[in-house]
Amino acid sequence: MRQINLGIIGGGTVGGGVFQAVQRNGALMALRLGVELRVARVAVRDLKKSRAVRIPPALLATDWRSVVADPGIHLIVELMGGTTIARQVVLAALKLGKPVVTANKALLSAHGEELFATAQRHGANLYYEASVAGGIPIIKVLREGLIGNRITRLYGIVNGTCNYILTRMKLEGADFAAVLADAQRLGYAEAEPSLDVDGHDAAHKTGILASLAHGFWVNPKDVYVEGIRGVTPLDIQFAERLGYTIKLLGVVKKFGTDQGKCSPVQVSVYPTLVPNGHVLASVNDVFNAVYVRGDIVGDTLYYGRGAGQDATASAVLSDLADAALDLKCGAKSRIPPFVPHERDGAVLPIDEVVSRYYVRLSVADRPGTLAKIAAILAAAKIGISSVIQPEGHEGKSLPLILMIHDATHAAMRQALGKISRLAVVKETPVMIRVENFE
Ligand code: NAP
Ligand code: HSE
Repeated sequence: MRQINLGIIGGGTVGGGVFQAVQRNGALMALRLGVELRVARVAVRDLKKSRAVRIPPALLATDWRSVVADPGIHLIVELMGGTTIARQVVLAALKLGKPVVTANKALLSAHGEELFATAQRHGANLYYEASVAGGIPIIKVLREGLIGNRITRLYGIVNGTCNYILTRMKLEGADFAAVLADAQRLGYAEAEPSLDVDGHDAAHKTGILASLAHGFWVNPKDVYVEGIRGVTPLDIQFAERLGYTIKLLGVVKKFGTDQGKCSPVQVSVYPTLVPNGHVLASVNDVFNAVYVRGDIVGDTLYYGRGAGQDATASAVLSDLADAALDLKCGAKSRIPPFVPHERDGAVLPIDEVVSRYYVRLSVADRPGTLAKIAAILAAAKIGISSVIQPEGHEGKSLPLILMIHDATHAAMRQALGKISRLAVVKETPVMIRVENFE
């Protein structure tokens, strides 16, 4: 049986998990693939660091270049993170014709086009199942399982850390900072956790899914992003009273064709009020879920652990199998990991995106307040579907909740700008989108 030697660059949470998983299930994979996977070297930064998963010292190295260039190493697994050295690692390996597996969504988001083009030029494949939604094989679903569908809607809870934080804030009334510290301890968060809580990690993943679904590489600058720092316990409670749960959603929507030309695709990430009756409202803790609608298949749903050592290692193993089969049967025998096929593809500017909204204002309890606010919305042709001024709030300012009918982002931005300048409005308005999954 052919033996394939792996060079893993990074021996942290995910690298350690992959090392452990290959020891545990490598023999099973050999039976299934007809090739044996062996970890030959693991590059790390610090040889002396104590590691939760022990890697034999003889396998460790600090010079990633020597691992990539080693002619005895057939396949490179980039699990170091970041976008600078990681880009060099992936390019160097692909230029040597070695297949590469990565979990690095930030790298793909920033340099995906260049990396896939390099892979194609050098006859090697670049695999990235672990870059989105942890253990859910969503890349394979879009790339292979749904290859015969046009994807009209995709909604994803794709950041485990944010979902873990929002779940514990809702169910336990837990404090944001304390729950984030737990997510870091559990190995869910990025080395720089602002990537998680400010929505950038979810934007990287949503951009990757949109690229795959629509056949053009989405520029991360075109993805509209809001994170969860502004989601307060008060909004979680009001949402619950209205029958919703707040989730950080990646949203990819395509609205048919525009006079025969490809219409732009909405690609955004923002906290969203999800109706409690919708399945995504019950996706809790570190779990992720991706809801995909295809024009032939209809609605489909994928669910699983979205972050952490073992879930991510499982996705890397799936890519190792594909990459190993490249080496066994030839890279061209498989569907390439990314096929650009939409030359007119473009992202819809956020100002043109239409949505429903939850708005929470902090207002003076004075006659005429509601009339002033309603007049600004009416002038902008923005319809109010309901107004709630909950009892039991006392003080100089009171919460006023408005549920808003479909309106563009631009119209809402301008109207809320005017509303926030009213003397009766005491704080910056809170605006959260409401999704009805139509
Ligand atoms: P991590 O625990 O910080 O591990 C990073 C590893 O890379 C460490 O072993 C580090 O060495 C090594 N490293 C960093 N710079 C290096 C260099 N210049 N040369 C050699 N080795 C270097 O990070 P992680 O959580 O495993 O994440 C790794 C990647 O997987 C990231 O792209 C992340 O976005 C992605 N990912 C993570 C998860 C998750 O749940 N954690 C899930 C999906 C995807 P030392 O150990 O010596 O410091
Ligand atoms: N930090 C990421 C998350 C890791 O919490 O989802 C998985 O990609």
